[in-house]
Amino acid sequence: MEELDDRTAVVTGAGSGIGRGIALVLAERGADVVVSDIDPGAAQAVADEVRSLGRAAHAIPADVTDRVSTDALAAVAVERLSQIDILVNNAGVGGAPGWWQRSNPSPEDWEATYDVNVIGIVNTTSSFQDHLKERRSGRIVNIASGAGRRGTGGFAHYSATKAAAINVSQGYALQLAPYDINVNCVCPGLLWTPLWEKIAERDRIKSGETVLTGRQVFDRRLEASTPLGREQTPEDVGKLAAFLASGRSRNITGQSINLNGGSYMN
Ligand SMILES: NC(=O)c1ccc[n+]([C@@H]2O[C@H](COP(=O)([O-])OP(=O)(O)OC[C@H]3O[C@@H](n4cnc5c(N)ncnc54)[C@H](O)[C@@H]3O)[C@@H](O)[C@H]2O)c1
Repeated sequence: MEELDDRTAVVTGAGSGIGRGIALVLAERGADVVVSDIDPGAAQAVADEVRSLGRAAHAIPADVTDRVSTDALAAVAVERLSQIDILVNNAGVGGAPGWWQRSNPSPEDWEATYDVNVIGIVNTTSSFQDHLKERRSGRIVNIASGAGRRGTGGFAHYSATKAAAINVSQGYALQLAPYDINVNCVCPGLLWTPLWEKIAERDRIKSGETVLTGRQVFDRRLEASTPLGREQTPEDVGKLAAFLASGRSRNITGQSINLNGGSYMN
């Protein structure tokens, strides 16, 4: 018996990086998974991987910035899987398209990060909450960031949205507690995903770096900031999300849990 047997999960932004890792770990722990992403091909590829683990998987594309799209996601997810137990709000961006080529965030970067990283959580949670409330049970896991714990020079637009994601999660935790729905946040540190490849490229452009590769820029940041000395992985985040989605965390709600090798300790 696996800890998530007979559970059903929806993961947004699951076509890449951390979201993919979460979808795969939830499936390994026994859950059937709706793999959602704005990129339909990426969602389909990860759904195929979930199926190869022996679980049911449905690729349902959705843009979390658009409430019509997240309402459709909720309707189709419930139709396909009958019920949804776990919602993971993972989709996130570092800015508007091409943000990594700008050394300073533009107004569009501020708007795009807010739309995806904050309103995305609000839209998707709003679309699923009636279903979860009716069933008087559910788990919501929001992926914030260590960047939401304190300001970051030159990346304030992103940090601000992650601080908001932590705060919004506390609000939903209070609002949904009477329905036995737990809402928690994970604050990851440094993971080498397509998002971080873009951050490294931006850092290289900003500093005029010509010798180090993006991966070396990442390694340097890791070494300078992380007491445990190793990068975190999508699988690490998946394991924490699985715990927060399981019966073992039934009295944990409104918390934001750092998963960062010790880089921030608040
Ligand atoms: N990589 C890190 O070091 C790190 C650290 C802390 C927090 N995070 C957070 O983890 C989450 C995942 O990041 P990642 O590193 O895997 O990034 P990623 O770029 O690899 O994946 C993000 C996914 O979100 C999808 N997406 C983007 N906009 C969307 C939208 N409007 N609707 C639906 N899907 C959308 C993308 O298509 C992509 O598949 C993000 O919220 C990010 O802020 C990442």
